[in-house]
Amino acid sequence: MEQYRKLEYNDAISKLLKALEEDRVTIKNFLLDYYSGKQSSPEMEEEIYKYFLTHSIISPATMANPGTSILTEFLYNGSSDSSFPIDRYFLQSKAGKAIRARLTAIKEKLPKIIEEYQEKGEVLIGNLGSGPGRDIIDIFATNYRNASNVRAIYVDRDATALRRGKRMATMKKVNHLIDFVEGNFLKYKPVKKFDIVILIGILCGLKSDVCIRILKSIKRLIKKNGCIIASNVSKKMLAEDPFTYFLMAWVGNWKLVFKDPEELKQIFEKAGYKWKSYFTDSYGFHIMGIGTPRPYF
Ligand SMILES: C[S@@+](CC[C@H](N)C(=O)[O-])C[C@H]1O[C@@H](n2cnc3c(N)ncnc32)[C@H](O)[C@@H]1O
Repeated sequence: MEQYRKLEYNDAISKLLKALEEDRVTIKNFLLDYYSGKQSSPEMEEEIYKYFLTHSIISPATMANPGTSILTEFLYNGSSDSSFPIDRYFLQSKAGKAIRARLTAIKEKLPKIIEEYQEKGEVLIGNLGSGPGRDIIDIFATNYRNASNVRAIYVDRDATALRRGKRMATMKKVNHLIDFVEGNFLKYKPVKKFDIVILIGILCGLKSDVCIRILKSIKRLIKKNGCIIASNVSKKMLAEDPFTYFLMAWVGNWKLVFKDPEELKQIFEKAGYKWKSYFTDSYGFHIMGIGTPRPYF
């Protein structure tokens, strides 16, 4: 068990601990002990595990599949009057809000990049590990519903997430602009190469060498002058919201590999991309690196 630093209380933490105290004080005490690095017993761990299984919607989903889009979707869209204190906590935590801020940042920046490519002709976007893909759906609904030269292909191995994406796209009247492909994007064989690839929420849990392998493999999907936008969680998140990460890592087994912009740049360069720039969400918890494939690498 990692040693976490002294708990710095904030509104979200205080509300969670108060709710746990009223519901099951042993769970609250256990969490605080465990966070401060005290040894726990298997009985106690089992009790808290069962509590999170039965008193949260997103914890069991994340335990079953740490990379699931159910959690990100919940954070994008969830209502803070959720009946479970644990779920309310994730929504109100800084790290939870930063996930929503990441979506906002992407929806602000991507249309400008699409416009640059539109000047040259048709634009094909690849949303790899898209989940339902509300980022592109919202961008299309706001900017390109009637456009004839912008399209997207979503690739995800989670058929349920893609079905939800299709529903969302239909409801927003942009389904004619998006193809949904179920499968592993590492094995995806494109009919046409992409002008823009987005890879959001995929690299965060992976060590640098694995990220390099993934970016290398994706290069074959991108046109010569195309670009990739790939996100990674930053070290600022761990520094500013360690308690949320403690809950994610221990309860959901959702471990992250925090990287700074320089590390992400190194990953891009080692994978054969020219690093162009990056942007972050308003909390600075997510870095969105932008790169272009380097020829002859
Ligand atoms: C955390 S979710 C992020 C979803 C979305 N990109 C977003 O930002 O909201 C990660 C998604 O990537 C998908 N995924 C991860 N690795 C994949 C792979 N190799 N091939 C296809 N899908 C993958 C998962 O199924 C999941 O839907």
